[in-house]
Amino acid sequence: MNIQQPRSSVTAPNDLGAYWMPFTANRAFKATPRMLAGAKDMHYFTTDGRQIIDGAAGMWCSNAGHCRPAISEAIAKQAATLDFAPPFQFGHPQAFELASRIVGLAPKGLDHVFFCNSGSEAVDTALKIALAYHATKGDAARTRLIGRERGYHGVGFGGISVGGLVNNRKLFGSLLAGVDHLPTTYDREKQAFTKGEPEWGAHLADELERIVGIHGASTIAAVIVEPMAGSTGVLVAPKGYLKRLREICDKYGILLIFDEVITGFGRLGYAFAAERYGVLPDMITFAKGITNGAVPMGGVLIRGDIHDTFMKGPEHIVEFFHGYTYSAHPLACAAGLATLDLYREEKLFERARGLEPMWADAVMTLRNEPNVVDIRTVGITAGIDLATKNNAPGLRGMEALGSAFFDHDLMLRVAGDTLALTPPLIVTEAQVGEIIDKVARVIRAVA
Ligand SMILES: Cc1ncc(COP(=O)(O)O)c(C=O)c1O
Repeated sequence: MNIQQPRSSVTAPNDLGAYWMPFTANRAFKATPRMLAGAKDMHYFTTDGRQIIDGAAGMWCSNAGHCRPAISEAIAKQAATLDFAPPFQFGHPQAFELASRIVGLAPKGLDHVFFCNSGSEAVDTALKIALAYHATKGDAARTRLIGRERGYHGVGFGGISVGGLVNNRKLFGSLLAGVDHLPTTYDREKQAFTKGEPEWGAHLADELERIVGIHGASTIAAVIVEPMAGSTGVLVAPKGYLKRLREICDKYGILLIFDEVITGFGRLGYAFAAERYGVLPDMITFAKGITNGAVPMGGVLIRGDIHDTFMKGPEHIVEFFHGYTYSAHPLACAAGLATLDLYREEKLFERARGLEPMWADAVMTLRNEPNVVDIRTVGITAGIDLATKNNAPGLRGMEALGSAFFDHDLMLRVAGDTLALTPPLIVTEAQVGEIIDKVARVIRAVA
């Protein structure tokens, strides 16, 4: 089947000036635009008619591949039936159905869902639930939030406050008061070229004890971590680390939030990484894969008794003063339901689990390519660190992004000088080979 789109189907715009692009080197982009016009399954199509293999699932979202008819058709049907329903004081059936379906996939005990529209909103929602939960229980002194160095939790003020990436924080004022950070779990000397969870690093969870020692447990509301820190370059949780964090949180009555915006919906071979690690957090944030990236949606899974704490007082009063105009948007719910059907029918989470050893072996073949200083893999994800070029962090990464797109018909993600690979879970073994071969050629091209 020829899946190439006609060159004339989408033309490149002449004027790129007005759009201020997010997290983009705008001037460099506008000088040599990487313009996408279409997508199907494992590929993107460019406005100049090239077919690009997607090594990034868009941006960690399109786990079932692109433009899957079941999802597109569900969205179109929903748009023609109920385009919008106010989520405050009104509902629509798909919202309730989707919440139940997500709960069905979640670890037992997480049995309520609060919907929003992005990972950033999910994180801010979870942090607010944590604060309000303690306050509602009469524990109003528990206001301190703990994140982690090199953590990424989106771009809301809550998310950048608990996040640990300096560029996302340093220009934005005082952020939230009362935030501390655990140390990063990454140490190249101890962990380089590990497949899956590193042996070294569980003890870093004990730093939470130190923070408790400084502030007192009675001031700490919640800890938020990514089970696998994706945006900072694929940092995999060391063996036993998350369990240890859970134990310390339990000891001191601190809520544990897993930010699963990337790891949710199959990326690590399970519906949620919590299942992979056998650790039950009090809340899970999700986004991206819930709709296969086709419509913006995010949400928070919440432990039953936390939810129930709010369900008190006069019944005509709103229980939680939070929400978004587009919470549980009908199009997002339709996309979510169709996406979950597809994940189930095609057993994509199991598929990812089965593919992981082959994937990890294939990625590790890159270790002898020039300037490769570390490779990490987990699930269908890999981070490949390249040595910094000319004392200019991020330069080699940007060159790799351009070389991949223009010269090797490959989409990958970069974080500084780290290449992140995270293809759709429908990727075949032959396509894994193709992606790795292209990455090798990209790495040589930017040597
Ligand atoms: C762990 C994590 N949390 C939150 C976010 C923010 O999601 P969004 O860009 O949808 O706001 C991301 C985005 O990559 C993420 O990786």
